[in-house]
Amino acid sequence: MKGIVLAGGAGTRLHPLTRAVSKQLVPIYDKPMIYYPLSVLMMAGIRDVLVITTPHDAPSFVRLLADGSAWGMNITYAKQAEPNGLAEAFIIGADHIGTDTVMLVLGDNIFYGAGFSQTLRRAAESLDGCVLFGYSVADPERYGVGVVDADGKLLSIEEKPAEPKSNLAISGLYLYANDVVAKAAALQPSARGELEITDLNNRYVAEGRAELVDLGAGFAWLDTGTHDSLLQAGQFVQVLEQRQGIRVACLEELALRQGFIDADQCRRLGEEMANTKYGQYIIGVADAAAVTAAAATTAAATAVR
Ligand code: G1P
Repeated sequence: MKGIVLAGGAGTRLHPLTRAVSKQLVPIYDKPMIYYPLSVLMMAGIRDVLVITTPHDAPSFVRLLADGSAWGMNITYAKQAEPNGLAEAFIIGADHIGTDTVMLVLGDNIFYGAGFSQTLRRAAESLDGCVLFGYSVADPERYGVGVVDADGKLLSIEEKPAEPKSNLAISGLYLYANDVVAKAAALQPSARGELEITDLNNRYVAEGRAELVDLGAGFAWLDTGTHDSLLQAGQFVQVLEQRQGIRVACLEELALRQGFIDADQCRRLGEEMANTKYGQYIIGVADAAAVTAAAATTAAATAVR
């Protein structure tokens, strides 16, 4: 499966904060926003990622993420010249997707919850059409909203309806079969002139090929669309990290856990930032992994003898 992070858009809803900096690069506590959606793709085991940005912001993303090889990944870049809609990602990314399946995550979406890796892997295994992730919110009119029957089966999706028929927002994480490329190419622009992801998803719903996974109340899908929610997202991460001594969306740690890099490489990445708590955390993670690996080697050698 291939990955796409869509990090375009003018970010006008966060001006003046995002007038000179891409929204997807603003800080969420201790790391740039795009780390969070990128971590979702890594959790799904995806190493090949296309980052789509505005032409103007592209150099900043390249400076931050480079070619991804530090994390054992392959990150490439493409530009969305005009805000022509989210579904254009599959037209821009057609070569990147090739004959594969694809997971798209919006560059401003933050997901956090126990067992998320397994949720993603299960979704990828059962993929036949598309998989969407729903989440109950207090303000559904700001999102794509699922129209569901009494059994929770998805009947259709409405984009930012004035009068939502449910509280079920469709989050910015989508899995598709390869026919998404052809379906996106066949879309017509909406009244606001964009290729709508909701129109695309409704094609799959109409074909009975859209699966809805409810992320559930124990899960956090955080909003970054207003100044308040942006700050709250940062505070959420701060509280978790300080309380538990963990790091959310720590790409170096994830790369190690996924087997994309080894403990030595992880340690090197930590040493580059050794003057920060973030870097020291990575060094700690690498050292603990090295001890575990050494113990496993000793145990295996003992078993052979
Ligand atoms: C987009 C989609 C919407 C989805 C949301 C999730 O809206 O159009 O269906 O619920 O992302 O973040 P946007 O935030 O681009 O207005």
